[in-house]
Amino acid sequence: RRHCLQLAAAIGAANTAPRVWGAPSITVRLSHVVARDTPKGMALERFRALTEERSQGRLRVQIYPQGQLYGDHDEMQALQLGAVDMVAPSLSKFGPIGFPEFELFDLPFLFDTLEAVRRLTRGKVGKTLLDSLQRQRLSGLGFFDNGFKHMSANRPLLEPRDFVGLRMRVQASRVIAQQMRAWGAWPVTLPFSETRRALETGVVDGTENPVSNFWTQGMQAVQSDLSLTTHGYLGYAVVTHQRFWENLPAGDRRIMQGALEDALVFGNEIADAQNDKALAALHLTGAAHIHNPTPAQTRLLKNASKPVHAELAARIGQDWLRTVQNALP
Ligand code: LMR
Repeated sequence: RRHCLQLAAAIGAANTAPRVWGAPSITVRLSHVVARDTPKGMALERFRALTEERSQGRLRVQIYPQGQLYGDHDEMQALQLGAVDMVAPSLSKFGPIGFPEFELFDLPFLFDTLEAVRRLTRGKVGKTLLDSLQRQRLSGLGFFDNGFKHMSANRPLLEPRDFVGLRMRVQASRVIAQQMRAWGAWPVTLPFSETRRALETGVVDGTENPVSNFWTQGMQAVQSDLSLTTHGYLGYAVVTHQRFWENLPAGDRRIMQGALEDALVFGNEIADAQNDKALAALHLTGAAHIHNPTPAQTRLLKNASKPVHAELAARIGQDWLRTVQNALP
């Protein structure tokens, strides 16, 4: 009887004691290239918190931000080799590694709103794209947004003639490279983590990104002008390797899947706000001159983009682009 009372007391004590998690049974290593306080950094942090909470610490997520562990050029390879378990590259980075269908997201002026992008990613096109990753034994777990890209340099970039002669850093995307050429600039492909330094040392003259990436890398210290061209979309896909994903106990996989779904919804909710906050900070500090193109200037950029659309259609097939166009509002 005394033994039973001791046990009851122990259980009572356990119920009121603060929650202490034991050692994790699985640690998920997640690598990405941007800062923590960006839409991507925050969405992935939410994924970590939800996974750990819902598994009561049995599942841990170790996040390596800012390209600390792997950069643009090697993160996919690290995933293939099992050196990390999850990555969330921008959609622009899928083309060069064997998934040219993803290049559609880089087309200048294809999307008017984030809602239009979401219609695409949540529908048949999105599913086809995620499924295509199986060709390399990858599992695509979902899409999420950063936002629209703008142009920076040490001068305003509002219409094609402003770009002439400039060396512009681009992601490893043929479409973005072609966009820069179509507007008169020289594209220079560089990993994200090397971009700020390349701007600082004059290796390149300018670049493009949503404002949250511009601000959190401190690019305003090395670029005097930001032109709000809103010319292209930047979003991400969360990717894991089938070897890792399919070997997870079904219950753990469900927890992670649910946590990720919620985290990506959260990411999409805060993306606009993070970009707005970064723009407000730029205005407030006066760290860069901010310019808005006139409708006529935007029209010039749009007109000059036509060959970029035609070239991609020739490369990935008119049918695929037609499917995409039909899915847009
Ligand atoms: C870039 O390389 O410019 C961006 O895609 C970085 C990122 O992942 O947001």
